Amino acid sequence: MKFLIHTYGCQMNVRDSEAVESLLIAAGHELAANEREAELVIVNSCTVRQKAEEKAVGKIGNMIAEGKITGLMGCAVKRMGQDVFKRLPKLDFAVGPRMFGLIPGIVSDLGKGGERLFLGDDNIVPQGMDAHPQIRRKGTFAEVQSYVTVLLGCDNRCSYCIVPDVRGHEYSRPAREVIAEIECLAERGVKEVCLLGQSVLRYGVRNEAWPGENVPKAEAFTRLLRELNGIDGLERIRFTSAHPAGCTEELVSVYRDCPKVCRHLHLPVQSGSDRLLKEMGRRYTREEYLAAVRRLRELDEEFSLTTDVIVGYPGETNEDFEATRSLMDEAGFDNAFVFKYSPRPGTRSAALEDDVPKVEKERRDQVLLEDQERRGLERNGRLVGSVREVLVEGPSKRNAERWSGRDGGNRIVVWDRVGDERIGQLRKVEIIEAHAQTLIGRCLH
Ligand code: 5AD
Ligand code: SF4
Repeated sequence: MKFLIHTYGCQMNVRDSEAVESLLIAAGHELAANEREAELVIVNSCTVRQKAEEKAVGKIGNMIAEGKITGLMGCAVKRMGQDVFKRLPKLDFAVGPRMFGLIPGIVSDLGKGGERLFLGDDNIVPQGMDAHPQIRRKGTFAEVQSYVTVLLGCDNRCSYCIVPDVRGHEYSRPAREVIAEIECLAERGVKEVCLLGQSVLRYGVRNEAWPGENVPKAEAFTRLLRELNGIDGLERIRFTSAHPAGCTEELVSVYRDCPKVCRHLHLPVQSGSDRLLKEMGRRYTREEYLAAVRRLRELDEEFSLTTDVIVGYPGETNEDFEATRSLMDEAGFDNAFVFKYSPRPGTRSAALEDDVPKVEKERRDQVLLEDQERRGLERNGRLVGSVREVLVEGPSKRNAERWSGRDGGNRIVVWDRVGDERIGQLRKVEIIEAHAQTLIGRCLH
């Protein structure tokens, strides 16, 4: 059957969709060239904010209306449970985040009148977790970059966050399995991997990641990075997302010792107000967060830091908001994603009144974005004249005469094509101009 998967949400969903794609192809199905051609459409959903869920549900609704065979997978399925069929009575099947390994079997049983909803419990390890994505889309960046999920689920339980309810408990995949997977990817030409986990520095904390190998829990993740750094052919190692508690001296020494580990960290802060951090259950203070930032920037002034911030959390006063603004200045983020608080059913904060008016959330959002625009311009401006090592991604979307790629700090770099660039190459680019989100450069031979 010809199929297509539409993916919403984070990189973990992207990776899960790739696994399903591989599993379906292995079962004899074929990837459709476009939506019109597809008989089966699967939507991989997100539910982190209400809007995200609505997008995914809207999309699958359209597919149902067009008469496709349809499946919904991912986080929104787990949140809605049986209600998913109240909202979408004609949906053929729905599969929770840890149950995607069942999809080939479900598809082959379609029409037999069996179960349509597969939620699973919070501790299941999906089948097909190590299904190697088919290295397809030849000649695109996807051929040389790959996500690898290392830590499933989340046990942090921040007050606002629905992820632990939908993605279940933490489970660290065995390190040897992860290493074997990445060796295999590198042999097939993958240059960059990004290790995924909701709070990836908790790798190996809840369950043993190095059975029989005597690796202290506190070093489970850093040992993994050190081993991956030795894989031939692999050029870059990234990982996301992080919590400041994991930003230990040991992690800093990995950045110091391992040239393939990119000096970029996505370190969501959520708020700069100690009072709100406590209410959110983030388990760090503003000062502890900034101390983690200092450790990284002491190693390397150019260390690239990005973050997530929530505006309009219940009870957020203007003073709390200003504390967030000043923290963002002190941390000097290279990039920031700002989210307007969205109450999620079943979370602790959903019991609180969502009392910051919509217009005020929008104002705060706008203020932080403008601050970040200025800050990004200032930070990128310091890089003018420097030579960056860039992993070539391909022609720039706006202008095919220009090529683009990213430096180790995950900064987008664009240059006038010299002619012999190839996707997946590392090239030296001298920066001649800086924008808030992009660096313009000259590719050196
Ligand atoms: N409302 C708004 N933003 C949220 N995030 C998580 N839960 C919510 C929520 N209920 C944001 C956090 C997180 C990012 C992925 O989404 O900033 O880091
Ligand atoms: Fe969305 Fe969170 Fe699920 Fe990722 S883990 S898809 S961000 S709800």
